[in-house]
Amino acid sequence: MPVSTRTLDSILVTGGAGFIGSNFVLHWLNACDSAVINLDLLTYAGNRGNLASLSGNPGHIFVQGDICDAELVGSLLQKHRPRAIVHFAAESHVDRSIVAPDAFLRTNIQGTFVLLDQAKKYWSGLNEADRSRFRFLHVSTDEVYGTLSEHDPAFSETTAYAPNSPYAASKAASDHMVRAYQHTFGLPTLTTNCSNNYGPFQFPEKLIPLMILNALEGKPLPVYGDGRNVRDWLFVEDHCLAIRTVLSHGVVGETYNIGGNSERANIDVVTTICNLVDEMRPESSASSRTRLITYVQDRPGHDRRYAIDATKISRDLGWKPAEQFESGLRKTVQWYLENAAWVDSVRTGAYREWIAQNYSERGEI
Ligand code: NAD
Ligand code: TYD
Repeated sequence: MPVSTRTLDSILVTGGAGFIGSNFVLHWLNACDSAVINLDLLTYAGNRGNLASLSGNPGHIFVQGDICDAELVGSLLQKHRPRAIVHFAAESHVDRSIVAPDAFLRTNIQGTFVLLDQAKKYWSGLNEADRSRFRFLHVSTDEVYGTLSEHDPAFSETTAYAPNSPYAASKAASDHMVRAYQHTFGLPTLTTNCSNNYGPFQFPEKLIPLMILNALEGKPLPVYGDGRNVRDWLFVEDHCLAIRTVLSHGVVGETYNIGGNSERANIDVVTTICNLVDEMRPESSASSRTRLITYVQDRPGHDRRYAIDATKISRDLGWKPAEQFESGLRKTVQWYLENAAWVDSVRTGAYREWIAQNYSERGEI
């Protein structure tokens, strides 16, 4: 279909060169016949290589730019007239938010405000039919709810916000701003709060890809604290489908928790990765990569446990995760084994500096 027809029905995606955003853009263009305008600043976490398979696809229009740039956002909305905005762009790594929170306030809070405000201007000028169809979907995290003890019930949509890291606080602020734009101005927003994602194209500063690559390369596997912190893990493809479901069928003004029904302690995740790497890339000595596990100094303010009660999205919208954690992790390890060129391309000098900064002072405990 020619691009001029398709863009009438397009969506604007922010952060579509990052981990979840790029998976979402690929998923969307595979499943839907409407174009994507992809606005991404290409920070250290953004990588056009994630979208290489879309080269020459007229349904993908990439724009390198900042969501804090109101003029740019306003002009993109006027030019492409999307029917929805799906907002992924963010600073997303908790450890970086502890070292340098400034960028988190700027992108996550100010950037979300700019998008909301430009969306409001654009949406107000639409005809009635387009106005009622328009949606602003804000992609957020379960970390806004703070931390759980071992036997606490999982986070639901009515759990009080209690963010603990600068990252979580900046996402909580952005969620509140989205809520305010819906309540005060009637902007048709939807918010999703999702647990930890894993899968292809995840930048190797996060637990799972970092551990896969270190295990492969025989480097220490740095487990924070006692390794008993628990996260709920969701395969990224399941998250993409959940977002598409909320976009199509979610009730305006509502929030939806998204989770994988896969709570695991970090040490169990790391051990499973070691076993998978041992199986897929056996060492000649036949020793296990578990020997590389190294307990290091804990993250300050480290949340103990996250867990998601996803009853609402399952009951009201019929979404459930399709992937089991063990099979999703196997696919993920396989992907990193098969994509060494991608791995090389993202491990730049700046990446190595971050790894040195984050781990050199942690020491073994
Ligand atoms: P990511 O760090 O991999 O990607 C973020 C993307 O945003 C990058 O492509 C980056 O270039 C872009 N970006 C950053 N600042 C920008 C700016 N000012 N303007 C335009 N683009 C900018 O993040 P991710 O893991 O893909 O997460 C995407 C979203 O999902 C985030 O909002 C995050 O809070 C949320 N989320 C992530 C997880 C997870 O496990 N990764 C879980 C729940 C929610
Ligand atoms: P991470 O992937 O950074 O996601 P988040 O902090 O958003 O949950 O970390 C997941 C868990 O793994 C978290 O409990 C911190 C822990 N972790 C380690 O033990 N070692 C590491 O090197 C990293 C990056 C994380």
